[in-house]
Amino acid sequence: MRKYRKREHVENYLKTDYRGDPLFNDMYLPHISLPELSVDEIDTSTTYLGKKIHFPLMINAITGGTEFAENINADLAQLAKRFDLPMAVGSETIAMEDEEAVESFEIVREIIGEEGIVLGNMNGNLTVDEAKKAVEIIRADALQIHLNPAQELAMEEGDRDFRGTAERIRAANEALDVPVLVKEVGFGMDASVVERLYDLGIRHVDISGYGGTNFFEVENLRYFNSDMTELYGWGIPTAYALYEAVALGKKDLHITASGGIRNGLDLVKCLILGADMCAISGEILRYIVHGGVDYASVYLDDLINKVKIVMVLVGAKNIDELRQVKWKATGRLLELLR
Ligand code: FNR
Repeated sequence: MRKYRKREHVENYLKTDYRGDPLFNDMYLPHISLPELSVDEIDTSTTYLGKKIHFPLMINAITGGTEFAENINADLAQLAKRFDLPMAVGSETIAMEDEEAVESFEIVREIIGEEGIVLGNMNGNLTVDEAKKAVEIIRADALQIHLNPAQELAMEEGDRDFRGTAERIRAANEALDVPVLVKEVGFGMDASVVERLYDLGIRHVDISGYGGTNFFEVENLRYFNSDMTELYGWGIPTAYALYEAVALGKKDLHITASGGIRNGLDLVKCLILGADMCAISGEILRYIVHGGVDYASVYLDDLINKVKIVMVLVGAKNIDELRQVKWKATGRLLELLR
């Protein structure tokens, strides 16, 4: 069952056509005609999980567990290696039950090598032993735990009881010697949830907001006899969720932005809002499946180039300077912020 579901998630994602709004277009950026900068001095480097990287983007959790998924993971890992990007594997829950599934995750570390950054991924039902195993399989630099109640409720066979998740996250975080990063899957994390996680001891979150991959639609395409369309608009838009998480002002909280980041301009806007890191799943998956590593590389080269162009045009030499950019909220984002 789980194996077929993994494949359907990828295939149905590629069939989705509903476009939610992460509200990046409601951010107005000033155009600086006198930047006094050279493109060559633009510095996009940052530190992530204690390692220096060239660009603040990671490939977010997508898949694993089957041969089909292994091929995708191998391509994603090659892309990550080529661009020096951290990569999270998809949920390793399947590897807890099925020894044969392990290889589809291991391959990611094999390709990326020990010097690269690889994150594990589990759901919130994990035990401490499973958390340890998920880290061991790929010698993970961190373990992502995903919160996905909306997705589970959209699945006929999904979870219906979400009690005890906070305590399991706390226990896993305490038992592991690598950081736990708690993420959403594209519905956004409310600031109250971020605060609760912080109080549990979590110092890494990915607010994974609304406006990109939409699991109400992805799951809906798996069924013939149910209709989820009225929930396609459900979720916290990425720009808003990110703003509110940053506004909590927790200095030692590392915030990753994901959900609907499609191009360089979106990514720069997340950095301006205060994200420490950005992540993409859907858009990268689309390029990998349709044209492999070379095609996805053209997409990423363009994205990186656009980031540098926009950094010059807002007059920011590095990521720290991006945080000083005086942007303005318009439209729905402004209404939500009022
Ligand atoms: C995902 N995502 C995901 N997240 C997670 O924590 N564990 C998982 O196993 C998966 N699986 C998965 C499969 C597919 C096909 C997609 C497209 C996505 C969610 C992903 O990591 C991310 O949070 C959301 O997709 C939002 O980002 P994008 O896709 O809008 O860039």
